[in-house]
Amino acid sequence: APATNGAFRQEMRKVPQGDFIRPNRKTNGVGVQAEDTRICVVMVGLPARGKSLIATKVVRYLHWLSIGARTFNVGQYRRSATPNPSADFFDTTNTEGERLRKAAAEAAVADMVKWFRGGHGMVAILDATNSTKSRRKWIQERCHEHGIHTLYVESKCDDEDLIMQNILEVKTTSPDYVGQDPEVAAQDFRDRIRNYEKVYQTIDEDEFDLTYVKLIDVGKQVIINQIKDYLQSRVVYYLMNLHIKPRSIWLSRHGESMYNLDGKIGGDADISPRGEMYARKLPELVKQSVGDGRKLTVWTSTLKRTIQTARFLEFEKLEWKALDELDSGVCDGLTYAEIEERFPEDFAQRDDDKYNYRYLGGESYRDVVIRLEPIIMELERSENILIVTHQAILRCIYAYFMNVPQERSPWMEVPLHTLIKLTPKAYSTHEERLSADIPAVSTFREKGTSARIGDKERRESKTSVAS
Ligand code: ATP
Ligand code: F6P
Repeated sequence: APATNGAFRQEMRKVPQGDFIRPNRKTNGVGVQAEDTRICVVMVGLPARGKSLIATKVVRYLHWLSIGARTFNVGQYRRSATPNPSADFFDTTNTEGERLRKAAAEAAVADMVKWFRGGHGMVAILDATNSTKSRRKWIQERCHEHGIHTLYVESKCDDEDLIMQNILEVKTTSPDYVGQDPEVAAQDFRDRIRNYEKVYQTIDEDEFDLTYVKLIDVGKQVIINQIKDYLQSRVVYYLMNLHIKPRSIWLSRHGESMYNLDGKIGGDADISPRGEMYARKLPELVKQSVGDGRKLTVWTSTLKRTIQTARFLEFEKLEWKALDELDSGVCDGLTYAEIEERFPEDFAQRDDDKYNYRYLGGESYRDVVIRLEPIIMELERSENILIVTHQAILRCIYAYFMNVPQERSPWMEVPLHTLIKLTPKAYSTHEERLSADIPAVSTFREKGTSARIGDKERRESKTSVAS
């Protein structure tokens, strides 16, 4: 490595724009999208059709891709004037109710326009029922005045059982019903829906000029109209992959590797004897967490340490190149202390901005997120999946589900020999951790040091064994 390093650096220096050019360092996954793009995603549908859930997920997905996005929830604006309305507030013959609801929508749209003007992001989500043609026309005109494109996302679902389930899951605990009996709240919410049904107009041919996606029965059928640009098509593709069947995702790093023992990064080492113990214990740990008889698919990277770790699991297995560890380029096979010694400037730059720092000839966390996007899409489409992968990759997948900001995600501590269970809930993800109780080195390095936790103790114990 050192010989090629020099040559590599010379090559890099030949680039006229300056030292250490790393092309596309700031590429953020928006691809060909223009920087000044402004898209308002307008949610459409009766209450309890998953609009807020969809909005929350789209914002989380876009944030993960470094695309500024925010939800403007009209219900929250309405709540500041009318915190606990009963169903007749939503009856369109109630003129005071109509006035207050229009005022809430106006306030949300005005804030959204301000947000775009402030350059805070590319995608705003207007989360409301927007269930009449006249309301949609008004939004269309307001957005047009301010150069904002619109993408209407309608969720249409007539499955009474599912709607009742949704009401019980998220509506009876809504701030609209604090302190109320859940049964009374559920009945009131059903009456609220009846009031909306009286005036609800689904998006149809009259609105052929709108850009829209219509999700019918949680994506069993999808109708798409006039999608105009790259970012819109990405959002639509994401929406097409969503489902709401109960499931979990399990994440584990590979068992301790021989490289982990030596403090080296990257490579394709075998697992250590303790890593082997973890591999042998993993089926039991998985059984404990997954339960009997549940279908599960195991995904690994193409590197030996994950394949060896997963080999005793009796489930269908898939190897993904996209799950291989972050490529550390010319630093592959070195310890953090060696990197600091040979490439002090690079070492400091990585500490400064770990998310964006790209190893010479290798990758950054930002690059990893881009290559993981198909994995996220596939995860959204799938049911129970166990992923056995690597430290940096696990951090990026975890960050997507747990909404961890990118300044923090590369610094998260993810211990070896631990199974993490993530269960998507209505607006968040529930996490459980199960330790295998098999000792392993820590591969976690804190900012500002080249030592990993426990390095000092390990050195001392090696010296005492030698002496
Ligand atoms: P409201 O108009 O009252 O704000 P909403 O349409 O925003 O209601 P959510 O609060 O998002 O509804 O409802 C979440 C519930 O909807 C969850 O229980 C979730 O499982 C379910 N859900 C998610 N997506 C869909 C969908 N496409 N169709 C029907 N239900 C869905
Ligand atoms: O040390 C284990 C390891 O998976 C390395 O192969 C990899 O380079 C590193 O972790 C990623 O972690 P960090 O980004 O904190 O250096």
